[in-house]
Parts: sequence; structure tokens; C-alpha cells
Amino acid sequence: MSAALETVARYERDLGASLTRMFENALDWEHLPHVHAKAFSSIELIEERASGWRANVGMAGGGQLVINLEVTREADGSGGWTTDSFAEGALVGRIVTRATPRGADRCHVAIEFQAPDVGEKQKAGFDAYYSALYAMLYDEDEAMMIAREAAVQRGRKGLAERRKVTLSDGKTAAIPRYCPHLGLPLDAAPDGDGIVTCPWHGYRFDAATGTCVSGAECGWAV
Ligand code: FES
Ligand SMILES: [Fe+2]
Repeated sequence: MSAALETVARYERDLGASLTRMFENALDWEHLPHVHAKAFSSIELIEERASGWRANVGMAGGGQLVINLEVTREADGSGGWTTDSFAEGALVGRIVTRATPRGADRCHVAIEFQAPDVGEKQKAGFDAYYSALYAMLYDEDEAMMIAREAAVQRGRKGLAERRKVTLSDGKTAAIPRYCPHLGLPLDAAPDGDGIVTCPWHGYRFDAATGTCVSGAECGWAV
């Protein structure tokens, strides 16, 4: 199956996040349609493993892919992940990412894009296409990883910080500044039903009660 794959583009860059944050981000399937809304429209988990995940992913431009991500780590902590995309059961693309540390709070990613049966003409446009797309995706991931590192540094004490929001009935509620899911900034206003949707993974909370109405076992006490 992989014999027909050939490398069609490459992209690499440094990121202002540790390798720990980078691997955490790769395993975090839930953020795709929220943090990368221009690229992905939905995600539905099929299987989650310690070393990866498999999910049905809706593409923002239309269409659906099954994406399988598998992480490999080496003894020194570096490593990478392979992301396979399937359309109607057939492998349509493979993205091989290698991540290496650049000090305590930086890392480097080198990415190889592989595809089957690609003509020379088609291949010519891939570098520009993937460079633009991955520059955007990694800008978004870098911002998320920096926010996540700040959440780790704040620890549990950050979760006690509240801010006031006004509900549609004129009442106010004190909601956490940082989301009880992964401690990222809960920068969102309640909608007409008093629901606050976290921008990072889309968890939805009742602002008045602190209950997570999207079913996760997290929330806050009022
Ligand atoms: S940090 Fe994940 S839903 Fe808010
Ligand atoms: Fe991402």
C-alpha cells in the first residue's frame, strides 16, 4: 500500500513550545475543528489509543476523511507522528512529522507530505499549497501550546479566577477565566441560552450552573 506513496512537499519550522506540548497537541484530536476551523469542520472519534487516535474528520472545504495518527517516541524524548488520511477506505495521503527539542521551551518540526499516483504537474503546486496551509495550522497550534504552557504553570489556582458575564435575562454569572477542561482561556460570551462555548475544544458550559452540557466530566461549582 505504501509502495505507491511518494513525497510531494516538505515544510519545517521552529515553534515556541516544548516537545511535551507538541506531542500533547498531536494527540489532542478534539481541537481540530475549533482551533483550525478554516481547515476542519467536524471531528468524530472512532478510536483513542495512548499512542494516537482515529477519527472521522469533516474538511472545511467539503468532504470527509478518516484520519489515523500514530505517535512514536524515542528514548531521548524526540520522535514524531504519522498521519494517514483515508477516503472511502483508500489511503489518499500520509504526513510524516519529526519533532526535535530546541531547548526547554522550543521545538522544531519537519514535515513530509506523501501522496500516491501524483503527476509532475500536480506536484509542482503542492509545496506552495502545504506551506501556506501548515504555516496557518502551526501558527494556530503554537498559540494554543503557549496558552497551554501558561495553564500548566498556573496550575489549579488559575481555575479559581472568575469573571462576570451578563445573561440574556439580565442576571449575571461568575464564570472561570480559564476553562476547567485544560485550563485554556475561556474567552467567550454566553449565548441567548446562557451557554458558553470554549473556543479550544468546543466544550459547552451552562454559565449559571457551571455544568458541562456537552457531556464532559468537567465544570465548576457556583
Ligand atoms: S480548554 Fe478544552 S474545552 Fe476549554
Ligand atoms: Fe493542531
